[in-house]
Amino acid sequence: MHYGSDRSDMLPFNPFKAIIAPRPIGWIGTLNADGVANLAPYSFFNGVGSGPDMVMFASEGAKHSYINARDTGEFTFSLVTADLVDAMNISSENVPDGISEFDLAGLEKGEPVVIRAPFVAASPAAMECVTIDAFQIKDRHGVLLDRYVVIGEVVRTHIKDEFLQDGIFDTSAATPVARLGYREYSKITESWTLRRPDDPVGSST
Ligand SMILES: Cc1cc2nc3c(=O)[nH]c(=O)nc-3n(C[C@H](O)[C@H](O)[C@H](O)COP(=O)(O)O)c2cc1C
Repeated sequence: MHYGSDRSDMLPFNPFKAIIAPRPIGWIGTLNADGVANLAPYSFFNGVGSGPDMVMFASEGAKHSYINARDTGEFTFSLVTADLVDAMNISSENVPDGISEFDLAGLEKGEPVVIRAPFVAASPAAMECVTIDAFQIKDRHGVLLDRYVVIGEVVRTHIKDEFLQDGIFDTSAATPVARLGYREYSKITESWTLRRPDDPVGSST
């Protein structure tokens, strides 16, 4: 089958997110204008380059995380893992500005080193990011949408030592949770190594 804007006649729910899956969940920490900590999950999230390391998240509507990251110029990303998934879900509730989802979800704040926005202390890995760009996107006709993208440069990375094996981050041991479509999730518990044809002989990464 194939479809365009007639999709709703053919499929009851849009499979877009189920096809673009698995997606990492960017658990975004920010401060509002009054300095109150905000936390919310964004699965339209990814890295966009390394060296300098850059991440992005996208907001469907001008939500608090977008506004705070734009106005304060900073945000954090914390990795969502299997043991943190219930807290992540609690933090997704649409609550008024000024109510901290860190408190709602019973999460301790990790102390940032370079910026002021906190991260999730219990997460195996977190990144402090400086906002490089925060913009509204257009459709193919040039019409502005109620959709927003934030790009941040990573200025500090926090990793719990127990997830480092000989200097390598053990992703499977951290058990990251990924977002699929509908209300589905998945988790990473195993991985393998696949060398590229032009990798130098004996290289391990
Ligand atoms: C796993 C998960 C992923 C989500 N991803 C997004 C996303 O990519 N973009 C978005 O706008 N909302 C997303 N949401 C919904 C937001 O987390 C939710 O609207 C939240 O209240 C926004 O909080 P904020 O206004 O404090 O930023 C997601 C929710 C969940 C549970």
